[in-house]
Amino acid sequence: MHKVQRVSSLRAAVVAARKDKKTIGFVPTMGNLHEGHLELVKVAKRQADFVVVSIFVNPTQFGAHEDLDNYPSTPAEDARALAECGADLLFLPAHETMYPGDIATQTVVYVPEIGDLYCGIDRPEHFYGVTTVVSRLFNMVQPDMAVFGKKDYQQIAIIRRMVEDLAYPVQVVGVDTVRSEQGLALSSRNGYLNAKQLAIAPKLYENLNLLATNLEQASTDKGVKSKAVLKRLEQQVKENLKAEGFHPQYITVCRQSDLMPAKKGDKKLVVLAAAVLGKSRLIDNLEIEL
Ligand code: PAJ
Repeated sequence: MHKVQRVSSLRAAVVAARKDKKTIGFVPTMGNLHEGHLELVKVAKRQADFVVVSIFVNPTQFGAHEDLDNYPSTPAEDARALAECGADLLFLPAHETMYPGDIATQTVVYVPEIGDLYCGIDRPEHFYGVTTVVSRLFNMVQPDMAVFGKKDYQQIAIIRRMVEDLAYPVQVVGVDTVRSEQGLALSSRNGYLNAKQLAIAPKLYENLNLLATNLEQASTDKGVKSKAVLKRLEQQVKENLKAEGFHPQYITVCRQSDLMPAKKGDKKLVVLAAAVLGKSRLIDNLEIEL
């Protein structure tokens, strides 16, 4: 696996791969890689001939009081793990490569509506940063396909919208969330949890499963019975999580198709959740088909 920092070297490697008739897969990350990230690389490797992985801790997707300065960095371990998974090229752009000028005057890619809900409410600048950096990375790498985790369900929905709206010739592939044996979605931010919190954290996913079971029981073959049923079940999960020591930010049952809040008669659903536990803001989700 080669490592490059400059866009010119990245482009040269991609052009050479294309000359050999290889398709290009791309996995953008912020590093501190775990099995969840590596699963994306394995999927990319199965679907494309030449896989580029980027590591860039993107400052514009962090809010003023978030963990940018303490974001974990494990470059040597990341490179070793990526090579083992068969990644072909590791792109490690410097800050100046991604943001050559003043960030305040940089063009921003903004996906309205879907980007303003859920995590977009609690972290107003977050998705602007994600779509702007992913857009720039797509233009640098020029992949045929790009792989994202369904753990960040709203993120992948926003990227799909951006790709459609801006006509990027990139196929977006989603990969199921990789979890610990206890069910906790793997995340770099789990590293901020102490032993006691780590024991509690799987309750988030447990409660999403409870909501799914209760919703299935409270529905008919025509789908969701009423908005009131959803509100009751969402509220129940919030209360359960509070009792465990979480501070829930949102627990919302949405439609898979557009992530708008679910209504009577909807069947293809996903429950999205964000809850703070100790110093970590955990997100998770579960698809539910009625
Ligand atoms: P990061 O948090 O490093 O995640 C990189 C990719 O790994 C994302 O597509 C994310 O959804 C996926 N991922 C993380 N944990 C996962 C898990 N447990 N199972 C499956 N996939 C998982 O997401 C970002 O970085 C950034 O926003 C980025 C897209 C790189 C833009 O800066």
